[in-house]
Amino acid sequence: MFENREGQRVPAVTFRTRSGSDWLDLTTDDIFAGRTVIVFSLPGAFTPTCSSSHVPRYDELAPLFKQHGVDEVVCVSVNDAFVMQEWAAQQGAENIRFLPDGSGHFTRGMGLLVDRDDLGFGPRSWRYAMLVRDGVIEKQFIEPQEPGDPFHVSDADTMLEYLAPGADKPLEVALLSRSGCPHCERAKSQLKARGINFTALELHRDYPHGALRAMAGADTFPQVFINGEHVGGADDLEGWLANREAA
Ligand code: BEZ
Repeated sequence: MFENREGQRVPAVTFRTRSGSDWLDLTTDDIFAGRTVIVFSLPGAFTPTCSSSHVPRYDELAPLFKQHGVDEVVCVSVNDAFVMQEWAAQQGAENIRFLPDGSGHFTRGMGLLVDRDDLGFGPRSWRYAMLVRDGVIEKQFIEPQEPGDPFHVSDADTMLEYLAPGADKPLEVALLSRSGCPHCERAKSQLKARGINFTALELHRDYPHGALRAMAGADTFPQVFINGEHVGGADDLEGWLANREAA
């Protein structure tokens, strides 16, 4: 059973990190003193759930956390500084600080260093998240001790619900777009004008025939998806936005 450390101070350690091509040592005080910090800690850089879900969602919600008084969102993993630096570059998660706990001193101090010999990983962090104010753990979400890699409570949405219950979350907007398509530009302009972030999947002019129909059941570009639902083309998006604004 892992010990919940709410009310306790985070371990005093020095993190050996990389900044560009130099070493940069950061102490616990550098990260936490006088600041409000969210930490989420995970089993390993480049691992699938961490890369496709845990990090991206914290990155998406980080601006919202900041609106609610958080100074920084930090991702810890028991990996060396070079691996963490490379993973950070690959993830492009600009709102997250990637903090290598290469020797596991911080994670051991948290009581959450576990043996992942089953995967040939060696000692790694159990997955957890915490809200830390001026070095003191206010809230901690530790994944249950289940086999495998449970991921139920250390996610960004759970942390946001604790920090700001009922907060409006940013829309998740994705566009299937095609180079040279004026309606795609119109749809993007509508979103930009409202400050709505979106991901555009740009299909080349000679995209495989049938791909758009297979994905969106449509033959024209763009095709817009919001919060996982298919909205349609640029006119449909305009209607969707107008309805939202009228509501
Ligand atoms: C994952 O993030 O998917 C993962 C983490 C630890 C072990 C294996 C996979």
